[in-house]
Amino acid sequence: MTQTTPAAASQASRSARDPESRAFAGQTEGSALIEVKGLGKIYRTARGALTLFHSLELTVERGEMVAIVGQSGAGKSTLLHILGALDAPSQGTVYCASTNLSKLSLRQAAAFRNREIGYVWQFHYLLPEFTAQENVAMPLLARGMRKQEAMAMAANWLKEVDLDERTGHRPGELSGGEQQRVALARALVNSPRLLLADEPTGDLDAVTAGRTFELIQRLHASHGLTSILVTHNLELASRCTRVLRLENGRLARTGAVQAGG
Ligand SMILES: Nc1ncnc2c1ncn2[C@@H]1O[C@H](COP(=O)(O)OP(=O)(O)OP(=O)(O)O)[C@@H](O)[C@H]1O
Ligand SMILES: [Mg+2]
Repeated sequence: MTQTTPAAASQASRSARDPESRAFAGQTEGSALIEVKGLGKIYRTARGALTLFHSLELTVERGEMVAIVGQSGAGKSTLLHILGALDAPSQGTVYCASTNLSKLSLRQAAAFRNREIGYVWQFHYLLPEFTAQENVAMPLLARGMRKQEAMAMAANWLKEVDLDERTGHRPGELSGGEQQRVALARALVNSPRLLLADEPTGDLDAVTAGRTFELIQRLHASHGLTSILVTHNLELASRCTRVLRLENGRLARTGAVQAGG
């Protein structure tokens, strides 16, 4: 039997479902994977309104690996949530993977997230009672794949993140770096186009953070991803194709990243 690599499977899976994705409303055919125009976000709380973004603009071309830096509280996580259809803007339009996110129903948004986006957070959020392999298989089972096939794909993915000797370990039996690699495999197992990572190396020591970042770079390239990483690590940010600083509600390109987040 021919062995299909996860990278080949990603490309095949994306091509196969493209006609399906065109069923979504508000599709564009531009080359950019993300186009944000006039984005505003206002949180209304009992203590008043908090305006996070003012006319924020962002274009990310397919294949880019963009780092977002900024002070704590600047709105980096909120921006990732909006790009990933987990939160809604107060103003403006967000096109992501050719889809106008504001036109999606809740059900379509859930399907969109499952199919198009891989998320990695600072904390891995793996399910403690399941093995690494079962955790990675979870998104495939959620979309209705047969267990045997899902487990085989999960095993391939664990190999891809150099964890083929840890398939039967539960999260509590893995190191922090290994847990994050399982989370990465789980994020990518559905062959998303976009990887959104919120401080993916924030909980790791410097050496493990560097290795995890290199793995993300490798997967980004081999799976034809577009990636956006939020990080406080300016050295890792500088290895991305572009570094944007979120400040005073807007994004600005920054070459020389300064200390302070
Ligand atoms: N649901 C909410 N309701 C009200 N305010 C919120 C809500 N979520 C976030 N905020 C506020 O919005 C601001 C931005 O939060 P966010 O988590 O996006 O910041 P961040 O840049 O990711 O910070 P950090 O680097 O500490 O993770 C914060 O001041 C936060 O208190
Ligand atoms: Mg955050």
